[in-house]
Amino acid sequence: MSLIGSQGVVFLLVIALLATCGQNSKARPTFENGLKSMVYLSSKITLHPGSVSNKYYYDIEFPKGHIAVKSFNAEVVDEAGNPVSLQQTYLHHWIASRYYERVGSEDRNYNANPGFDQSDIIMDRNAGICDHVLDQFFGLGAETRKTSTHIPDPYGIEVGNPLEVPSGYEEKWMLNIHTIDTRGVVDALGCTECRCDLYNVTNDKYGQPLDPNYGGGLSCCYDGTQCKVKNGIESVERHLYLKYTVKWVDWSDSIVPVKIFMLDVTDTWQNTGIHDCLVEYDVEQSTTGISANDHTSTRISSVKFPISGDVVYAVGHQHRGGLGSALYRKDGREICLSKPIYGIGNEVGNEAGYVVGMSTCYPKPGSMKIVEGETLTMEFNYSSEKSHTGVMGHFYILVFESSMDSNYLVSW
Ligand SMILES: *[C@@H]1O[C@H](CO)[C@@H](O)[C@H](O)[C@H]1NC(C)=O
Ligand SMILES: *[C@@H]1O[C@H](CO)[C@@H](O)[C@H](O)[C@H]1NC(C)=O
Repeated sequence: MSLIGSQGVVFLLVIALLATCGQNSKARPTFENGLKSMVYLSSKITLHPGSVSNKYYYDIEFPKGHIAVKSFNAEVVDEAGNPVSLQQTYLHHWIASRYYERVGSEDRNYNANPGFDQSDIIMDRNAGICDHVLDQFFGLGAETRKTSTHIPDPYGIEVGNPLEVPSGYEEKWMLNIHTIDTRGVVDALGCTECRCDLYNVTNDKYGQPLDPNYGGGLSCCYDGTQCKVKNGIESVERHLYLKYTVKWVDWSDSIVPVKIFMLDVTDTWQNTGIHDCLVEYDVEQSTTGISANDHTSTRISSVKFPISGDVVYAVGHQHRGGLGSALYRKDGREICLSKPIYGIGNEVGNEAGYVVGMSTCYPKPGSMKIVEGETLTMEFNYSSEKSHTGVMGHFYILVFESSMDSNYLVSW
């Protein structure tokens, strides 16, 4: 009798479990080296040769609960789930941002720009330091496949803390994905560098005329623009997704939270006192380089860092033509040297001539300190053998703030 009874209990548990899964209709996380891991697909991205998609997707799938994110990876895949080459679809960038939405408010328009006037949404942002841009939590570009994003123990990016959610709101995530279909285009590099002449664009996305001296950049490859394709190229539509993988652990007191900062070499703070962060810039072709045998264009800028703490992770972001990026402390000590990894083949993840990865920095825990108010200097090198439009020079760094709360130091 008791045997049957316990079988009955097991049976009921199985039914209950199946019911829970069915209700969720979502796969459950897998476990791997003590981390939970989930793979998600973005909304469908529709492209045809030469076309650009740069859309904002609200309320994306993201792990629920109070957790510490340990890594966030992504890649573009087709409808069969196969990875798509950068030679066909250039991933200009993807960005994941957090926001708070008023409970019970209507569903988001899935493509709108976040610069809206919507009282039921509060955009969250990272810890700084640009004024209105580069406020994402996660994000990379073409270099996504070969750039390490894992955060070493005991650190993690804390999300889903119910105490941080404004009352009456819920925490949600937004994904901005910018892809350029370069199948059949006349100049793939030019299309990926958003050269205005190739897009035949003279107005920005708001319909405002562009400065005639503006040669290229984000203002010429906005959503719906079209890069020049070769004659006779058939317009074959294609449906793609950003497949993203989040790894995390459930929150616990043993996790040390890190803050996310983004620095931009175009930040004019040194001269203007504001963190305007222009996001991108141009590299002019060197006219003297040939004789001097130097084709390096160097851009340097400094910012004052707002908190004291330990650098846990750092990575630079560069486009094609990039030769290296570095971040220095005030005394000249190198915090991080992050270099582009160029593909040399034809296979996915190794596309010749493309930046397929950036090297990353993981200072020994506690070894790389920054003090509040310290001047940090960024240095970004690009090749000036050719001119480039719309290149970038960003540093993404994770810092454990140690000035305010020394408890964390004691706890491990
Ligand atoms: C470029 O744009 C102009 C004005 O919008 C249009 O008249 C012209 O046909 C376009 N050229 C090409 C090559 O598409
Ligand atoms: C940038 O180029 C200059 C000059 O060639 C070199 O001295 C410097 O080390 C380079 N920096 C980085 C970050 O690659």
